[in-house]
Amino acid sequence: MACSKSVQRSASVLLRNTTAFQGYVGTRASSWWGAVQMGPPDAILGVTEAFKRDTNPKKINLGVGAYRDDNGKPFVLPSVIKAEKRMAEKKLDHEYSPIGGTAEFCKSSIQLALGDDSQHVANGLNATVQAISGTGALRVGGAFLASFFPGSKDIYLPTPSWGNHGPIFRHSGLNVKAYRYYDPSTCGFDFKGALEDLSKIPERSIVLLHACAHNPTGVDPRTEQWAEISAIVKKRNLFPFFDMAYQGFASGDVSKDAFAVRSFLKDGHHIALAQSFAKNMGLYGERAGAFSLVCADKDEAARTMSQIKILIRPMYSNPPIHGARLVTEILSDPALRQEWLGDVKLMADRIISVRSTLQNNLKKLGSSRSWQHITDQIGMFCFTGMNQQQCERLSKDFSVYLTKDGRISMAGVTSKNVEYLAEAIHAVTK
Ligand SMILES: Cc1ncc(COP(=O)(O)O)c(C=O)c1O
Repeated sequence: MACSKSVQRSASVLLRNTTAFQGYVGTRASSWWGAVQMGPPDAILGVTEAFKRDTNPKKINLGVGAYRDDNGKPFVLPSVIKAEKRMAEKKLDHEYSPIGGTAEFCKSSIQLALGDDSQHVANGLNATVQAISGTGALRVGGAFLASFFPGSKDIYLPTPSWGNHGPIFRHSGLNVKAYRYYDPSTCGFDFKGALEDLSKIPERSIVLLHACAHNPTGVDPRTEQWAEISAIVKKRNLFPFFDMAYQGFASGDVSKDAFAVRSFLKDGHHIALAQSFAKNMGLYGERAGAFSLVCADKDEAARTMSQIKILIRPMYSNPPIHGARLVTEILSDPALRQEWLGDVKLMADRIISVRSTLQNNLKKLGSSRSWQHITDQIGMFCFTGMNQQQCERLSKDFSVYLTKDGRISMAGVTSKNVEYLAEAIHAVTK
């Protein structure tokens, strides 16, 4: 008996070392997952892990893209607290949501993006579904495009883009390609490079555009630059897919932040749109978002909607209800909506103000570098221009944690830690 066990064990070791064995690990003596390799940790969540392990009381976490108040604490929006109380009083049930979420949620979401006076919404040209926050909206959109887009299955992302864009679209079955976006020499928008690349993309391809508060760079095109981008996208017959994860978070004004999306529609584009309520309502863990197609006519909207639902059904059946109810409660009540707009502005204004404070502190310390881009950039992130070595030194010597591309989340900077942060940045960039 003992002998046969050891024979089995050595056979299993032998097999594990052969490629033929990969995927055939299910013998009694071995495990099913012996051939599974350890994957790399998530680049952003890994930063938080390192931050948690650090015992320095001055440590700062600038990795995570979640808003923090001036005490560095998570912020539950007062308008959200109010909506939650109202919902509790209503004693709602916990039945399933429809596959695409409720009609009220979908209408409120798309109107927030396109405007209350949107003719596209009034004429029923949008096919909108609730999605599992912004990530889910991009994934559903990716699945729809992979199945039905009549042109090429290539999607062009700005360089750099949010780290999850590539994996989401590859996972959806699209080919991920790139166009120039960020100019490291100015820490600003590479307008010329972007136009050059966009004008060379093969016709009938998909192009991803960050609607506002570009992640990770914080660099957005100006309004007149958007107009040129729109013209090229039209000329090349490209399909624009907008990712709007930060509406309101860039300028503090939801309409201003929706400028690019609305102007593309005015220019006659038909678009795809991913929305998220994670940042602008602080509903990170509630996973409330929306995916929309804005179509040529009502019939097309109905047909595409039917197919989007068919794609969603086997993925997750139907979306979660709590966050969507909060969003609907806030957006559909004029007084509460007004209060929420104030909450959004408060968050955006704090970030805008802490950008200036950081810049002033660096100047005061006598930094010879231009830190103009800290205030030129917008939204939650600042692409500092620090190189990998400098980022590593910041973490190692100063307990300041950030991703190695030099991106810092401005949400983690407060009036209490900004001086220390400026000293640390100055020390590593001298
Ligand atoms: C550009 C961009 N798109 C989409 C998302 C998706 O966020 P969520 O799935 O939390 O709504 C994020 C989150 O960081 C983002 O930065």
